[in-house]
Amino acid sequence: MDPLKKEIVICLGSSCFARGNKSAIKAITEFLKEHNLQNDVNFRGERCFGMCAKGPVLKLGNVYHENADTESIILLLRDYLEIN
Ligand code: FES
Repeated sequence: MDPLKKEIVICLGSSCFARGNKSAIKAITEFLKEHNLQNDVNFRGERCFGMCAKGPVLKLGNVYHENADTESIILLLRDYLEIN
């Protein structure tokens, strides 16, 4: 893992997965591809973050984003990756 790369961690616990992170994986992968960022970020999954009631959860850098539906994820990614 490259410590200089920005980190995107999606919760793959069963609650978040069922609440939308299954489709979020696809949306994030497509977003990174579209902006040619696949090699500039570490995108990975982790098991339950322990905040299931607030899921789906996405972690960008050190910040956890709750109730992250696919639409808000794109906005969060644009902001985090500084894309206009
Ligand atoms: S399954 Fe995502 S926080 Fe628990």
